[in-house]
Amino acid sequence: MSETIVQNKRVLEAYESFAKHLKNFLDEQQFNHEEYTNFVNWADRLGKSGEIPLFLDDFIETYVLEAKYKGLPGTEPSLLGPYFVEGSPLLEKQPFIIPERPDEAGDKLVFYGNASSVNGQPLANTKVEWWQDDSDGLYSNFDSKAPDFNLRGHFYTDENGDFEVHARVPIPYQIPTSGPTGEFVRAAGYHAYRPAHIHMKLEHEGHETLITQVFFEGDEWLETDVAKGVRTSLLTKLEQVGDHKEASLNFVLRTL
Ligand SMILES: [Fe+2]
Repeated sequence: MSETIVQNKRVLEAYESFAKHLKNFLDEQQFNHEEYTNFVNWADRLGKSGEIPLFLDDFIETYVLEAKYKGLPGTEPSLLGPYFVEGSPLLEKQPFIIPERPDEAGDKLVFYGNASSVNGQPLANTKVEWWQDDSDGLYSNFDSKAPDFNLRGHFYTDENGDFEVHARVPIPYQIPTSGPTGEFVRAAGYHAYRPAHIHMKLEHEGHETLITQVFFEGDEWLETDVAKGVRTSLLTKLEQVGDHKEASLNFVLRTL
């Protein structure tokens, strides 16, 4: 039996466009064969190490997002990154308490958010996924020793689109540097830091899913984020209030 061939026109279109621009890039760079072979070997190590998502999310994803969303109304997306996992716990009542260990370190954070539509309507019942690093700069389900889904959760906005979350202030972290991604970072002379950020994913019917991050004014890595994920519209102030820190940001979703 012969295999049915289903052509995906988008694949062809994307490859042909890539090849066209690649030619200009190669004319400019004039790689010799040794450099090409070094690249092939590095890409092979990248694949074998499982770091392809890490590398692409840190060095390519920002350009994908900028190309599609720059200048559009609504909150700007930022990187999904490699650390999102499905299946986080559902948090049922406000304030939403993000799960943490009994001895979780780090400053307490109270975060106030709101979801609305570009047409001005508040978006009640918007599903919000929240994930962040811990005070060691690590993510649960990946490199942290914390239980799975520590500092991760999802919840729904109230009738006004509002939500209040109690979590921990995230800290800047370095992307992993022990593998081929680190080889690249060192060869380029970059540092490996990302400024502190909270990851959020907001979903509401009739609207484009917004995958974004919240950053804090004054973070020393904002200008040189290794993954270039910072957008000025995603910056907020972190303020000391009594024994904890507070921050807020409103999220505006584009209609489909
Ligand atoms: Fe992150």
